[in-house]
Amino acid sequence: LAEQIASFHVNPQTGNIITDKVTIVGAGQVGMACAFAIMAQGVSHHLALVDMQEDKVKGEALDLEHSSAFVRGGLKVEASSTYEVTHSSSVCVVTAGARQREGESRLNLLQRNVEIFKGIIPELVKHSPDCLLLIVSNPVDILTWVAWKLSGLPKERVIGSGTNLDSSRLRTFMSQRLGVAATNCHGYIIGEHGDSSVPVWSSMTACGVRLRDLNPKAGMKDDPENAYDVIKAKGYTSWAIGMSVAQVVRTLLRNESNTHVLSVHAKGLHDIDEDMYLALPTIAGPVGVQKIIALQLTKDEEAQLQKSAQTLWETAKDLKL
Ligand code: NAI
Ligand code: 2OP
Repeated sequence: LAEQIASFHVNPQTGNIITDKVTIVGAGQVGMACAFAIMAQGVSHHLALVDMQEDKVKGEALDLEHSSAFVRGGLKVEASSTYEVTHSSSVCVVTAGARQREGESRLNLLQRNVEIFKGIIPELVKHSPDCLLLIVSNPVDILTWVAWKLSGLPKERVIGSGTNLDSSRLRTFMSQRLGVAATNCHGYIIGEHGDSSVPVWSSMTACGVRLRDLNPKAGMKDDPENAYDVIKAKGYTSWAIGMSVAQVVRTLLRNESNTHVLSVHAKGLHDIDEDMYLALPTIAGPVGVQKIIALQLTKDEEAQLQKSAQTLWETAKDLKL
């Protein structure tokens, strides 16, 4: 671990990353929501934005930078259609690529986004060889595996946004149903960030009370997944993923041992034999993945997780990079 830390730009006293420069590739709806949340929450004061649409990304950078007077410590935002501006970033977030159309599943986007990743990932690593990669583009679990393979980085340093957003949706849903603040509602969605995701109903709690003790049928029918509703209504999702990514980037820049439900290399966990990524609760920090939490799942939840892993594996196993 000490060696790993030394190879990063990490302050050995605090464990925090010294430079807070964050790159975001893809200045579309998701990338800009991430950029805005990262800056508004003071997670980073130095961003590099890359998008193939050069005018657009430069305009977005100027627009963000014009808010410097409202942010303690000011802002620096560089922008380009090429990767020199990304040099020496601590975290590189990838949101570039195609998104779902109404009714389309995330897995449908795979081949289009793999081709896009071939042009992005090697460039990021070339300019920031010590970075942590945080993948957001869909299908996020498989594309995180693709990014890991294309990057040559250790698996601990390539992470996907996973089901951190889905878990926040779940907590919002619990909060609305129970009349308790979402911050007091706890629970995880794991597995694929997609149609086969697994809500872990057996361990959900609100104010320390297990949902299953309140209602043994909790979760049997209700489905907290509502990305499709948002896409139907506004065409894409952006604000909640932006907030989720900002929270994860904060964790990656600071040595705080926070837990998020991230796409991580899952081989060897929960009887998963394949070389694949899917979402599990993870403690992360400036060295990347520190620990993956061993959840106590019911038999039914284990079976659902196996099915989710199988769905991802069936889609990804013949991919040619
Ligand atoms: P968008 O269409 O608004 O933006 C995509 C951006 O990527 C565009 O600005 C485009 O110019 C850029 N781009 C495309 N190819 C590029 C390349 N080779 N190099 C640089 N830039 C490139 O799409 P949106 O809504 O921002 O979605 C982006 C991705 O995020 C989609 O795959 C979407 O499914 C995913 N997403 C993931 C979520 C998650 O929880 N993991 C949540 C919401 C969206
Ligand atoms: C979301 O869950 C579409 O993956 C995207 O918002």
